[in-house]
Amino acid sequence: HRPSRRAVLGGLTSLGLLALTGSLAGCGRQNEVQLPAAPTAALPIPPLADSRVEDGVRVFDLAARPGTMDLLPGFPTPTAGFNGPFLGPTLRASRGERVRVRVANELDEATSVHWHGMHLPPEMDGGPHQPVAAGDTWEPEWLIDQPAATLWYHPHPHGETQRHVNLGLAGLFVVDDQDTPAGLPGEYGVDDVPVIVQDKMVGEEGGFLLDTSGNEIGILGSTLLVNGARNPFFEVSSQRVRLRLLNASTARTYNFGFADSREFALIASDGGLLASPVPLASIRLSPAERAEIVVEMAPGETIMLRSGRVELGAVAVPAAFGGEDEFDVLELRAAGELAPSPPVPGTLARIERLRVEDAAGLRDFRLADRKINSKEMDMGRIDEVVRVGSTEVWEVRNTNPYPHNFHVHDVQFQVVSIDGQDPPPELGGLKDTIYLEPRRVYRIIMRFEDYTSAKVPYMYHCHLLLHEDEGMMGQFVVL
Ligand code: C2O
Ligand code: CU
Repeated sequence: HRPSRRAVLGGLTSLGLLALTGSLAGCGRQNEVQLPAAPTAALPIPPLADSRVEDGVRVFDLAARPGTMDLLPGFPTPTAGFNGPFLGPTLRASRGERVRVRVANELDEATSVHWHGMHLPPEMDGGPHQPVAAGDTWEPEWLIDQPAATLWYHPHPHGETQRHVNLGLAGLFVVDDQDTPAGLPGEYGVDDVPVIVQDKMVGEEGGFLLDTSGNEIGILGSTLLVNGARNPFFEVSSQRVRLRLLNASTARTYNFGFADSREFALIASDGGLLASPVPLASIRLSPAERAEIVVEMAPGETIMLRSGRVELGAVAVPAAFGGEDEFDVLELRAAGELAPSPPVPGTLARIERLRVEDAAGLRDFRLADRKINSKEMDMGRIDEVVRVGSTEVWEVRNTNPYPHNFHVHDVQFQVVSIDGQDPPPELGGLKDTIYLEPRRVYRIIMRFEDYTSAKVPYMYHCHLLLHEDEGMMGQFVVL
């Protein structure tokens, strides 16, 4: 009895839209709105968080608070963010520093803040066991002790993670390391650019819908946001740019690449720089995975970042830019003299390979139907006990016909094999989250170090947040 929203939205003025949506309010379940194509907007860059040093500790302030954003004319979208209405600032600290984050919860409900990818004591982890009540503050402190990497932070309250992350509570945590080789683009917001990608389901009244009824894996929205903006455009004043990609979606997996299929260099995965750059035309990232890529452009060129066929935003080098390329890589490539080869000079930091022969044993994790090893998450149950200082191989099996992924707190792991085969080079570095294709078996290796507790567990779980919230999570302690 009413026209399909999909069909009518494109042609409506915002006034007409208001009237139509108004008449449907209160009519029950909301449908997803297909927003009209967005005009190009400048890519917002999450600011670097201010910090101060108190007694040798670098201190940051983060406040989770409600906000709004404008997507649908006349209907502000309720959101949440850290220190602002949506997403949060980029925290940045160096290996060897102690950090403390004053987390204030200005929401009207409990949340938590988890430091995804960080090696830290379980009491500081910010998972379901460290809730921050409405109006409270929490001040975790720890030593940054891991290689340079693009990590991130997000809420992790028991059973509510999907809703909190979907509202916009997420930000980057960049770790620097003195050993990072020179020659990489690294000026934040200039040639080193955060790219936080999320999909949203926008409802008829502007709010983000949590509709997971259409599929097994969660919310798949048709509104794509990069750092909170639709259809952004970013101009760099350099011919090579480093993009720090974060899939901050709750369920959607992306295949990032460029519209002209140009090759780029993958220089880092979740836990840091690869042993050497990997030339690729696309990189798959499931929820919570990160990748740092370096792409080269000519002066005057604009390239479109996309996932599959879906365009996410453009990066450009102004024509007026000098074009004196110190590296000559572009010229060589044009002449066909340089076979696919990484555009980054020099070698990247070597990561230590863990040896399977040194592993204490093999542990099995079977993911099926919102459970791991047939068990639903129970905050009062410890599922696995690992020995501090031990190296372990975990065999992770997706027995469902649809994808999952697998994230382990506290550690960065290495992929040993996929269905018994060597992993592809893009999975050759440090990872904390891995995509699990249907019915495949993954072996990962990691070492558990430093922090022990008999009582406070770390988590492992599927990072498709619907699955996580519904119980596809387990707890381990390090003793
Ligand atoms: Cu990104 Cu257990 O979380
Ligand atoms: Cu899952």
